[in-house]
Amino acid sequence: MSEEQKQAENRARPTTEEFRGFVREDWSERRPQATEPAASAPYAAQRRAVVSASFPRQRLIVPAGGLKVRSNDTDYVFRPHSAFAHLTGLGADREPDAVLVLEPTEDGHEAILYFRPLGERDSDDFFADARYGEFWVGARPTLADIELELGVTARHIDEFEGAAAKDAGEVSVRLVRDADRELTARLDAARVENGAEQESLVEQDDALSHALSLQRMVKDEYEVEQMREAVAATHVGFEAVIAELETAVEVGRGERWIEGVFGLHARHQGNGVGYDSICAAGDHANTLHWIRNTGDVADGDLVLLDAGVEVDALYTADITRTLPVSGTFSEAQREVYDAVFAAQEAGIAAAKPGAKFSDIHAAAIAVIAEHLHAWGLLPEGVSVEDTLDTEHGQYHRRWMVHGTSHHLGIDVHDCALATRSEYMDAELKAGMVLTVEPGLYFKADDLKVPERFRGIGVRIEDDVVITEDGCENLSAAMPRTSADVEAWIAEVREENA
Ligand code: GLY
Ligand code: MN
Ligand code: MN
Repeated sequence: MSEEQKQAENRARPTTEEFRGFVREDWSERRPQATEPAASAPYAAQRRAVVSASFPRQRLIVPAGGLKVRSNDTDYVFRPHSAFAHLTGLGADREPDAVLVLEPTEDGHEAILYFRPLGERDSDDFFADARYGEFWVGARPTLADIELELGVTARHIDEFEGAAAKDAGEVSVRLVRDADRELTARLDAARVENGAEQESLVEQDDALSHALSLQRMVKDEYEVEQMREAVAATHVGFEAVIAELETAVEVGRGERWIEGVFGLHARHQGNGVGYDSICAAGDHANTLHWIRNTGDVADGDLVLLDAGVEVDALYTADITRTLPVSGTFSEAQREVYDAVFAAQEAGIAAAKPGAKFSDIHAAAIAVIAEHLHAWGLLPEGVSVEDTLDTEHGQYHRRWMVHGTSHHLGIDVHDCALATRSEYMDAELKAGMVLTVEPGLYFKADDLKVPERFRGIGVRIEDDVVITEDGCENLSAAMPRTSADVEAWIAEVREENA
């Protein structure tokens, strides 16, 4: 007997016919889960209409993806593929293995959601299936529930493969390939069997994924509202962290304490964190993606907290505040902080319709370069203009290597498949949601910076929506100037005293 078989043997539960009969009987009528259409339904329908118009007479397949094993028989919490969430309006952990098909019709497409509906109580599925069964993971929606909730046609997942293969060779099929690798392999094999060439398949599928990614660049009003909720929830999480900063110092491994406090509120108010929180005290702030969060927090440190709540609809905030644990910035900390703040102000001022996306970075980095020059950190004879020269300069990047902005939405780095001309070089338009997040990172072992700056890392990150005549800072309620941050910490401490 193999190890695997032994293990399976270990866990097997004996089921007699008598038991099966007993467990199936005497359940009351279950109540329907969905009672009205989802608030997202008309918006998702509109998004599908846009895709439909771009790919007439083609079958478009957008899988949610499947459960992913964490270890042995335990899965990660499910999160649907972002394109699937965008086109269905389904969020949170819904629905593993589902597939949205836009089936071509005479005058557009019919949206059909194939998924695993609620199992009947006389099926093994009801109580015996630990991965999907109602006894184990809760009741799933019925076909009727999904039709009411989403306003699409609902079908059993078992009908999907047949439907996907219908009129094979005649209907052109496009698929979001990275959502469900196994499904992609199966469909590829079928399409190749029907005469398609693997390479052209990939090209044709990538065009769909690209279009879906690009489509998310301008948010509709429902999405902007979700972003507002994500930011408001994130604000709550940051204040909870501020209230716990002194405890974080006391308990040791304070970065983990901060991660936990923020995570508690993210999970309580929304689906969770939109990305692993960066909870970086002191020199850790100079490691850009410090998510290990194993460090202590000391009284004189700055804590850089980069964190965002993802709401149930899966839109996430992405906000950074750099907080003096003592409640007051030291002189050197304030000097660096104020420079980053000035850069952020310049970046936010550049975020307006008609400007290019890259203008935000250009405005912010110029301010960073000016400060570095004034501090005498650039090489001898290098002016601000010289360092900003993209071909020959860029010395300033030693202290701010990342970009100032990215699109934000269902993915923290949203619209990632857009090309340079569609993203960096494109004009900003009303409805785009972006971060503005300059920083300065002076590592403790950086001998090029004055000693007083060593070990100080600062980033300030806000989420803005482009409006008709500028931008609105969605996170404006979270204090940003050094003086306002100090007052904020004092106020939260007072409230929690
Ligand atoms: N939290 C990742 C970022 O700011 O882009
Ligand atoms: Mn960001
Ligand atoms: Mn961030």
